[in-house]
Amino acid sequence: MATYDVTASPIKINDVTKIMGKISLFRKINILSFLRRLNSTVDSTETEKFSLSLKEWWDDRKGPAAALHSMNTVRVPLIKEALIGTRDEAGELGPHPLKGFSILDVGCGGGILCESLGELGSDVLGIDPNPVAINVATTHLMLTKNSSDIKDRVKYQSCSLEDLIKADSEPIDTDSSSEDFDCVVASEVLEHVADVDMFVHQLSQMAKPGGSVVFSTINRTIPSLFLAKMAAEYIFNILPRGTHDWNKFVTPEELDEIVKRHSMSTVSVIGLGYNPLTNVWNYQSDTNMNYFLHAIKQ
Ligand SMILES: C[S@@+](CC[C@H](N)C(=O)[O-])C[C@H]1O[C@@H](n2cnc3c(N)ncnc32)[C@H](O)[C@@H]1O
Repeated sequence: MATYDVTASPIKINDVTKIMGKISLFRKINILSFLRRLNSTVDSTETEKFSLSLKEWWDDRKGPAAALHSMNTVRVPLIKEALIGTRDEAGELGPHPLKGFSILDVGCGGGILCESLGELGSDVLGIDPNPVAINVATTHLMLTKNSSDIKDRVKYQSCSLEDLIKADSEPIDTDSSSEDFDCVVASEVLEHVADVDMFVHQLSQMAKPGGSVVFSTINRTIPSLFLAKMAAEYIFNILPRGTHDWNKFVTPEELDEIVKRHSMSTVSVIGLGYNPLTNVWNYQSDTNMNYFLHAIKQ
């Protein structure tokens, strides 16, 4: 039987170079992209699902993102509440209650949430690994907003969270730190990432101590299998078929455990109900389908 001599000299760089030299270019590319995926939260088969056109992202009535548009009616007040302690649904705090707050919207897609948060006065950075979505978000902002104020406050960047953290930690700009934002948002993204634990860790790194990290996502339950997955994709055609993999859904209990592991504590979990016939969302105590979780960075 062959044995491995642990005292033998370790493999040298030259040996690796020789081995790599014998592998075809095609296999090398596969190996390198596999190694990169191991260290990334991005699953490109998931992000490519969101290469939608400007019209598809921004058709708020019949487009594949219509439910995300109407979701702003519930998620925007919840983000306000996370930042200023009130949902301010009657708009008593004036048109810009989020003035002075910085928000990072991770997996911002075509900018549906970023624009609404920018309208409320905050500085928003929307990032997404899908350059098609970022192009749509930038184009929509430029084409539809007259005021240069919001165009200056809402910015987009096509990159992953790990790219942003790496760029942030490079010592070019001494004023920047990895703990930059008052609020970090991941809305309808968790169910698409390659590694939830790594992703949540990175979200936490981007929040200020005492800042908020907010999630909206889909629970992994039997009702969500039939309604959020099967009915939404195959009966009501609200979403393109194959948008979701039920196995990737995360329960609120699991998310609570994960946020605790990454220096955060959950302050609230709120169920979100959706009526596919009217495209209307509401708050509810039941978290069996969609839910919103607000955590604070310690
Ligand atoms: C359902 S869309 C949500 C868009 C936006 N957050 C909204 O709610 O309007 C999911 C988005 O997450 C992005 N995404 C998927 N995996 C990601 C990852 N690992 N990191 C950041 N964004 C990701 C996709 O490219 C896509 O634009």
